[in-house]
Amino acid sequence: MKTLVNSTLSEGTKSIIRSSELYQFFYNKFHSNKLATGTKRLDLCANEIAIYLLQAGKGKYVLRDKVCLEIGSGWLLTHSLVFYLLGAKKIYATDVEPLLQPENIFKAVSSSQSWHILDSLSTFEDREILRLRLNKLLSFKKFSVEVLQELGIEYIAPIDLSQKMPGQEKVDFIFSKSVLEHVPVDDITPLLENLVSSLSEDGFMFHLIHLLDHNNFQRPFDFLTYQREAYSRELQTRWGNRVRRSEWKQIFSNLKDLDHKFIFEWSCNDRELPEKIDSSIQYIDEEDLRISHIGVVGELKSLLEAKY
Ligand SMILES: C[S@@+](CC[C@H](N)C(=O)[O-])C[C@H]1O[C@@H](n2cnc3c(N)ncnc32)[C@H](O)[C@@H]1O
Repeated sequence: MKTLVNSTLSEGTKSIIRSSELYQFFYNKFHSNKLATGTKRLDLCANEIAIYLLQAGKGKYVLRDKVCLEIGSGWLLTHSLVFYLLGAKKIYATDVEPLLQPENIFKAVSSSQSWHILDSLSTFEDREILRLRLNKLLSFKKFSVEVLQELGIEYIAPIDLSQKMPGQEKVDFIFSKSVLEHVPVDDITPLLENLVSSLSEDGFMFHLIHLLDHNNFQRPFDFLTYQREAYSRELQTRWGNRVRRSEWKQIFSNLKDLDHKFIFEWSCNDRELPEKIDSSIQYIDEEDLRISHIGVVGELKSLLEAKY
């Protein structure tokens, strides 16, 4: 399917095909099926969450009895399942598009190695309790929105969190992976402000932001050549909003009630930069342009100051 749309068709035609309900129906089935035995396997996601929590300096019982919010939860909600394993009492899994394909969640759970999940998460929860929760997950042969609710996971989509939050409840942990780079530039600050205002006093947020061109991983900086006027909100969502590391720093620094820390930064140094970067791209130097991923942790101001 992807090959069909990636062919020589013009961007306008591709966009029309992509937005058709039929295309989205088949794409979402196909893509979620692939993810279930690939990057969204439960053991791989458990390992990812463990690494992020360790890098954020968190320890035992960090999510036990907590309220969590995942932004851009995608097709399988595997990260939200990890929050269930870690004992979260309520998890709001939200998305701007209703992408969830519950019939493929079983595959993401059953294709995983149980020991790997337990090993990854034992730093943050008692192993025997983890095992009981994992056994419960494995007992479901068919997932649905109702089954997810039984696990404390409420799926809310479509919802645009730059416009409104799902409710008034304070949230202890906000998580996103590969989502903030899809948010159109104009919506980033309103979205982050809404997140900050929903954070509980001792809550925290973690975002992994992937800064490369999602249209072309072979030439992952080519999207930086487009003029601002030619780079629509749709392209910002599909290929990435092109915000570089230094601009993210500024955006997070401008959130008056939040203290943040970049807990990791990775670079992409083995791919060519285009000769000309469009003047609308805000950056400091080549190093800034080449940052490919950042991990950001945020907490309400007074608490973070005391800790770091
Ligand atoms: C690359 S997928 C990542 C999905 C999931 N977080 C994961 O790790 O598999 C990007 C996700 O961001 C969501 N997204 C795109 N624009 C968004 C926006 N403005 N607000 C919230 N989510 C958005 C998409 O719907 C999709 O679920």
